[in-house]
Amino acid sequence: MNILPLIERKKQGSELSADELSWLCTEFVARRVPDYQMAAWLMAVRWRGMTAAETLALTQAMVASGATLDWSDLARPVVDKHSTGGVGDKTSIVLVPLLAAAGLAFVKMSGRGLGHTGGTLDKLEAIPGFRVDLDLAELRAQVERIGCALVGQSPALVPADGALYALRDVTATVDALPLIASSIMSKKLAGGAETIVLDVKYGSGAFMPTVEAARELARAMVEIGEGAGRRTRAVLSPMDQPLGETVGNALEVREAIDTLHGRGPADLWTLTLELGTHLLLLSEQAPDVEQARARLTELRDSGAAAAKLAELVEAQGGDPRVVDDPDRLPRVSHIRMLEHEGPEQWVAAVDAHAVAEVTLELGAGRRVKTDPVDPAVGVRLRAKTADQVARGEPLAEIHARTEGTAAQAAERLRQAFRFTTEPAELAAGEKEVIGG
Ligand code: URA
Repeated sequence: MNILPLIERKKQGSELSADELSWLCTEFVARRVPDYQMAAWLMAVRWRGMTAAETLALTQAMVASGATLDWSDLARPVVDKHSTGGVGDKTSIVLVPLLAAAGLAFVKMSGRGLGHTGGTLDKLEAIPGFRVDLDLAELRAQVERIGCALVGQSPALVPADGALYALRDVTATVDALPLIASSIMSKKLAGGAETIVLDVKYGSGAFMPTVEAARELARAMVEIGEGAGRRTRAVLSPMDQPLGETVGNALEVREAIDTLHGRGPADLWTLTLELGTHLLLLSEQAPDVEQARARLTELRDSGAAAAKLAELVEAQGGDPRVVDDPDRLPRVSHIRMLEHEGPEQWVAAVDAHAVAEVTLELGAGRRVKTDPVDPAVGVRLRAKTADQVARGEPLAEIHARTEGTAAQAAERLRQAFRFTTEPAELAAGEKEVIGG
């Protein structure tokens, strides 16, 4: 086979066969197809797209480029979840121990912060001693013993994704929908779970700005999962304002712990319960929605899920005492309150992207890969969309290292809030579910 006709045919909008895509992926990973030709092919895909069959074949070729995990000898059903990333999204830290407490195995491989969105690994590393870099033998032993793990993506899995992503990043081809879907799903398939729930976000704080784009991505990912024989379902959720009240690593871990103790923000628990219910139903571990929700709520209220988080933290080298005493997490010395200056009004919107930018500026995330991350800094929202605020009432706490950075952040954070003189309504209603 030769790369040139494959670029030419994709440029014309033709469909490539599974054999051709497998060859292309293998040759690229082996460095026998140079970057400039692969880049040309990626740009052709960016404009011409790929059929569902092509997207599945590319994903399977990417999976075949590395190791895969096989959990078939495990007595428990193995589940996985992916979120397309948001602001303040600490759902995995609540969901993983909750489902493991329900008797499922949950092997969650996560990433670091990307752009303005936070990464679960950075959040977990706010726990003193916590290790995210388990090797595959350690991972297996831990999952066999306690039923869950929250770790970094193993470099042994899907090396093709690392190589392709790096090239997409510098050739303006990250935003090609079939390439996003195959990148995400290749890692889920290689992770070995038989049941996968995808939380696809849309809105100002999300990777996908509109519900239409999120729906298209969700469909493409569900088709890959189902095509590969996995039970797959996607839930579309809005990400216009941050999830929960906190953005920043230790603050988010504390909020996840609070949620497992039943004292977290309602929106975080609602989303966790929703994703957990889909996982229980899809893996046939609950007969209906009501019983799934009741079981998960009982596991929270009995303290079983929080105890499972403590087990997980201890297994990965962290200080498990943080689960009962979150004051042991890193904290700052400067907390500045941002107060409402206008007359009594309602919060119309809190721009998730703007809050993320402020948090990044405080040092909670990276501008470039090598930037250090400050675990303690961040923002805690004291008012969110539809809340009524009077003059002088708190809008947000700013957790900063110095008075100067806190003052700067306060001015920028104020711009994230929009107000209205009419009672604002929170868009509610059933979330759209795709697949399964
Ligand atoms: N996340 C991924 O893992 N891959 C993409 O291509 C985009 C987001």
